[in-house]
Amino acid sequence: MTPSPSPSPSSLITIFIATILTAAHSQDTTTTTTFANCNRTFSCGTIRNITYPFTGGGRPSHCGLPEFTLTCRDNTVTELTHNSVAYRVLKLDQVQNFMILAPSLLYNNTCPSQFHNSTLNSTLFRDDGPENEVINLIYGCNGYVMSVKPHNIFNCNSSISNFTDSYYVIGPVPTDPILRIIFCSISVRVPVLMDSGNRLSGLNISLREALTLGFSVKYNDPYESICSQCNGFGGQCGFDWISGQSICICDDKLCPPALPPSPEATRNASTSSQGNDDRSKPRMNVVPSIAGAILAGIGLGWLIFYCKQRRKLRLATNSSQTISKDVIIPPSNKVFSSPPLTFPSIHSYPPPKTDLGRDSSEFGVQIFSYCDLKEATDNFDCSRELGDGGFGTVYHGMLRDGRAVAVKRLYENNFKRVEQFRNEVEILTRLRHPNLVILYGCTSKRSRDLVLVYEYIPNGTVADHLHGKWAKSGLLSWPIRLNIAIETADALAYLHRSDIVHRDVKTNNILLDNDFHVKVADFGLSRMFPNDVTHVSTAPQGTPGYVDPEYYQCYKLTEKSDVYSFGVVLIELISSLQAVDTNRQRLDINLSNMAINKIQNRTLHELVDQSLGFEMDCNTRRMITLVAELAFRCLQQERDMRPSMEEVLEVLRVVQNEKLNAHKVEVVHISVDDEIGLLNGSISPPSPNSMFGCA
Ligand SMILES: *[C@@H]1O[C@H](CO)[C@@H](O)[C@H](O)[C@H]1NC(C)=O
Ligand SMILES: *[C@@H]1O[C@H](CO)[C@@H](O)[C@H](O)[C@H]1NC(C)=O
Ligand SMILES: *[C@@H]1O[C@H](CO)[C@@H](O)[C@H](O)[C@H]1NC(C)=O
Ligand SMILES: *[C@@H]1O[C@H](CO)[C@@H](O)[C@H](O)[C@H]1NC(C)=O
Ligand SMILES: *[C@@H]1O[C@H](CO)[C@@H](O)[C@H](O)[C@H]1NC(C)=O
Ligand SMILES: *[C@@H]1O[C@H](CO)[C@@H](O)[C@H](O)[C@H]1NC(C)=O
Ligand SMILES: *[C@@H]1O[C@H](CO)[C@@H](O)[C@H](O)[C@H]1NC(C)=O
Ligand SMILES: *[C@@H]1O[C@H](CO)[C@@H](O)[C@H](O)[C@H]1NC(C)=O
Ligand SMILES: *[C@@H]1O[C@H](CO)[C@@H](O)[C@H](O)[C@H]1NC(C)=O
Repeated sequence: MTPSPSPSPSSLITIFIATILTAAHSQDTTTTTTFANCNRTFSCGTIRNITYPFTGGGRPSHCGLPEFTLTCRDNTVTELTHNSVAYRVLKLDQVQNFMILAPSLLYNNTCPSQFHNSTLNSTLFRDDGPENEVINLIYGCNGYVMSVKPHNIFNCNSSISNFTDSYYVIGPVPTDPILRIIFCSISVRVPVLMDSGNRLSGLNISLREALTLGFSVKYNDPYESICSQCNGFGGQCGFDWISGQSICICDDKLCPPALPPSPEATRNASTSSQGNDDRSKPRMNVVPSIAGAILAGIGLGWLIFYCKQRRKLRLATNSSQTISKDVIIPPSNKVFSSPPLTFPSIHSYPPPKTDLGRDSSEFGVQIFSYCDLKEATDNFDCSRELGDGGFGTVYHGMLRDGRAVAVKRLYENNFKRVEQFRNEVEILTRLRHPNLVILYGCTSKRSRDLVLVYEYIPNGTVADHLHGKWAKSGLLSWPIRLNIAIETADALAYLHRSDIVHRDVKTNNILLDNDFHVKVADFGLSRMFPNDVTHVSTAPQGTPGYVDPEYYQCYKLTEKSDVYSFGVVLIELISSLQAVDTNRQRLDINLSNMAINKIQNRTLHELVDQSLGFEMDCNTRRMITLVAELAFRCLQQERDMRPSMEEVLEVLRVVQNEKLNAHKVEVVHISVDDEIGLLNGSISPPSPNSMFGCA
């Protein structure tokens, strides 16, 4: 064993200098590492010749960014994993810097084993461009209660819930999609190509196909300008995963330190040499923000476009239908663009005391002071509560001038813009029809709560009389019920002529006066709460059991939605049953569904309230049958197949006159027969004659 010679002073100095030089030369250990094989490309299946910033396959990791690592399965399927979600790469274009991706779990599969939102919103990947459309998949919903399934329902057994109903919703979901009657466990957001969205809404492709076509993703290499300089002098771009820095590789090694510019120098260089590199950093940052800014507009536009397209498709098959202007013009603009209505003066009563004696009609509406209303309702005492409406609680009050009023105190500030609220109140106070409740006015904008003041109608609601607290008294004979139907239809037809959609037609909103004449309440209220598609709105739109099934597809209530709800009211008048009753059998929970089944199966007698004399009286039976058929038409799934409110009114009046002129029944036969062809694949309802059993 020879002891190692003690180093001479000169060799010590040499080592010392060498160490300093090495340290000065590079700050990390990578100098000694070789960076080989970045001239290899990645290829897998149809994805070929992929280079920086991507790595994976035969490309070593230092040849690209960690977020751009691709994997290859079975030599055919290329995958990219981002935020722990794996995506199939269907296309990769390194000239335009975009990819077509599809979430792997949802590829050719609508029922994934795990649920992940697909949101690529980082600075590296963006999927929010106008070439995509968002679909929301909603899983684990409890049973759908209508027999006619909506086309956007599908089945998925999932681990998260015992419920197997699932839905897809194209575009934004402004409100709880299936309203409050259906509970869903989980929702997943996934983009698809705009074209797939269009074809899906036209039912030209299935959801599975749409998911399999993927969505477009723009990617952005934050070191792109450094890389182009590196390429400029023959280097190959890479990335040091340990130090997190862009590197430039020359012949398996880092290029000489003078050559690869530091990020600071690059920034200087790229700004001074604009034009050379038109994909420099600042510009890349602008593109996503522009895309984001126009996204909301595109979403809204698509929603309108979608509803329009659906209508067009249907119009093509049924040219006799007319286009409702409601489809194109948003409801908030509609009233102002329509011809002015003529109304009687709204000040038919002496103006009440006002806030500090200010002008009582500050915007053409009668203004009540909050204090007066507080006094009129005993400080909104609960014993005076008449009901809980969609937007507030209603109290019975007595004004100092002796008027009995119904006072609706709106729930705290769930309206968006006071200005719009006042406009809406002004429009509603101008509506005058013998079968509409009069809206006298509201509190001033300075008042602490917004309160609407209506005429008080003393005799309860139709719901109270059909299946509520007064049901047992049996005051509603068939002729009264038919009259209620006619007067309600009359009021709704008037609203529609005035370009107002009621939006919440139900027996709870049909009030009765002492002579059992109808006063329709709560009309147009949801107009005050704009259903802004860019925000999730909590404003209720309609009531479970009464809501137009097409609402679930377009989130838009039209005149034809009122017609649908009115169809439910007609069935309630015939049957005395509630619109929704969970004590009934599953398929009968929803009254409209139950009615459609009974009418189609020619078992109407099982639906009709026997106390009305259906079995006993021939004329009553004839009338009820005709009303049931009218209701059947109102309850059609497709909006365009439903009659207009004017037509409904006309048919009801003819039915009422039947009693007096039995021979006129022929008139009705013709109009009923005409519509049988519209029943869209369903069993044609029996002709009135076959159901009468008495000629
Ligand atoms: C890739 O680069 C290595 C040196 O790093 C070289 O030996 C090899 O020939 C190159 N291959 C191709 C296909 O250019
Ligand atoms: C990939 O590169 C190979 C060889 O460079 C070439 O023959 C082939 O056409 C390329 N494929 C694509 C899809 O560009
Ligand atoms: C999707 O799956 C079906 C069978 O489930 C198969 O026949 C079809 O080829 C698949 N399509 C794609 C694009 O993988
Ligand atoms: C997806 O995102 C929505 C809205 O951000 C959220 O409500 C939902 O729970 C998310 N789903 C999953 C599976 O994380
Ligand atoms: C991206 O998503 C994160 C949460 O996942 C969020 O905080 C961020 O604001 C989003 N960025 C953009 C631009 O939407
Ligand atoms: C879902 O599971 C139920 C039993 O839990 C089964 O009857 C049904 O066929 C399954 N549906 C599908 C689509 O797998
Ligand atoms: C599903 O049903 C089973 C029994 O049928 C019950 O034990 C389980 O808790 C249910 N799961 C959920 C998520 O409701
Ligand atoms: C759907 O297909 C029909 C004919 O099959 C075609 O007329 C229509 O334009 C298609 N719609 C879309 C959105 O592709
Ligand atoms: C960066 O640009 C400034 C002027 O914009 C110049 O004074 C400076 O010398 C430049 N630095 C480098 C490293 O090029």
